[in-house]
Amino acid sequence: MGNTKSWSTFFPPTHDLFVAVHSGAGAMASLPPKLSPFSLVDGRKALIFSVSILLASLLFSEGLEVGSGEDGGDELFREILRDEAVSRINQLGKISDADGYLERTFLSPGSIRATDLIMSWMQDAGLKTWVDQMGNLHGRTNAINATAETLLIGSHLDTVVDAGKYDGSLGIVCAISALKVLKVKGKLEKLYRPVEVIAFSDEEGVRFQSTFLGSAAIAGILPPTTLQISDKSGITVQDVLRENSFDATDESLVWVKYEPRSVWGYVEVHIEQGPVLETLGYPLGVVKGIAGQTRLKVEVSGAQGHAGTVPMLMRQDPMAAAAELVVTVESLCKYPDKFLGYDEHCGFFGKESFAGLVCTVGEISCWPSASNVIPGQVNFTVDIRAIDDEARELVVSEFSNQVYRKCEERMVNCTIEHKHNAEAAHCDSGLSLQLKHATSSALGKMLGDIHSDVPILMSGAGHDAMAMSHLTKVGMLFVRCRGGISHSPEESVLDDDVWAAGLALLHFFDQHVNLLHF
Ligand code: GLV
Ligand code: MN
Ligand code: MN
Repeated sequence: MGNTKSWSTFFPPTHDLFVAVHSGAGAMASLPPKLSPFSLVDGRKALIFSVSILLASLLFSEGLEVGSGEDGGDELFREILRDEAVSRINQLGKISDADGYLERTFLSPGSIRATDLIMSWMQDAGLKTWVDQMGNLHGRTNAINATAETLLIGSHLDTVVDAGKYDGSLGIVCAISALKVLKVKGKLEKLYRPVEVIAFSDEEGVRFQSTFLGSAAIAGILPPTTLQISDKSGITVQDVLRENSFDATDESLVWVKYEPRSVWGYVEVHIEQGPVLETLGYPLGVVKGIAGQTRLKVEVSGAQGHAGTVPMLMRQDPMAAAAELVVTVESLCKYPDKFLGYDEHCGFFGKESFAGLVCTVGEISCWPSASNVIPGQVNFTVDIRAIDDEARELVVSEFSNQVYRKCEERMVNCTIEHKHNAEAAHCDSGLSLQLKHATSSALGKMLGDIHSDVPILMSGAGHDAMAMSHLTKVGMLFVRCRGGISHSPEESVLDDDVWAAGLALLHFFDQHVNLLHF
């Protein structure tokens, strides 16, 4: 489109893109320099989209009118989108397998209780519900066109250990709340396409160290061998599924898979888990892409012995070796250009290639774990993430080389197992633009101002949207959190920001009411 003027008529020029990089629990983001102006769509698509939005609002005055006052005075559906949603997040935050902290893993008793509760909320919102063969909970609307491609929306119901209550739950609850508003307004049946909320059974991968068990099955990328992965006590994914009355066969995995042609797209609302939105003073942001990640398990075995009798120079101590390897991975990821400035296969890697590179050793265990015993074996995990997949792979390969070299020097044996590998996912530009538009109009309604400068962020955290991007186009909305803290009981989101997220989803759904579709 050559006409910048008409472009800006519909979409006032946005702020520059903010590319934010953050790691899990509360790490500060680095904010690289501002990049080029908003570039999610090319001009032609943007013009068509803009005109559609404008026509939509003119033509479908019967569509949902947020703030029209029809809801008995609560123009912004505060009771449903804020008060009830916050209370539901709090209720889910109390459903735990552990005493004193929040933990729900794949199909654990807490997860089953959470599934039942969420199912009752889905039914309250007028959705038809069922649980699939991987324990994912689905709630689906009818639609004017029942055979139209389905809009999927969701997040995960499992948690990390000692979790915060918003990670995962926020996205499920906001989606159900927004649909409940449509039901209350009598608009649920007027959706052009079916909308299906999915509460995924496993995203965090805590128990089996294999993330996205739920969403990967739906996306059709879960290998059948996953059924044989075992947890620390030797119980397999298949065992756990069968304990819960699922078939757990190669065939039953295939039933879970969705056909790409039956799906329109996937949307996820999620706590940001980083500090960017708070720093910008903005409640919501649109996600541009999600960093790729690799998870490794390193096993170091040496010579177990007596702490008092084996001379230092005669030891093959796996604990000291593991300590050196932990520092090695930290240095690699702190100063990647020092170690990896040039690669003979991939050419030159500059600082920008390593944007968002973060590495974490989050779990370490040793055997036999006694203060007067030189350990026989030490195991630890390594989580490596980056926006650029080639750069991440280079870091993984350099780390592996250093592991084998250092283990040889120390005369211990090392093995590295690749537990998980996910390429970076890119959010769909058109879907992101719809989310941006929905966000700015929701915030406009709430705050009474024009809010067109919705921040655009990268996600360092993994999300079900990564797996779903193998099935369909994906879009994500981030919600501001206090101090950027997540994967911690300190996780905190303002009640009003929960409300803003629900209202943004409502505006997003509004674009799918009646005959309007893109
Ligand atoms: C999920 O929360 C992850 O990014 O590890
Ligand atoms: Mn998480
Ligand atoms: Mn999450």
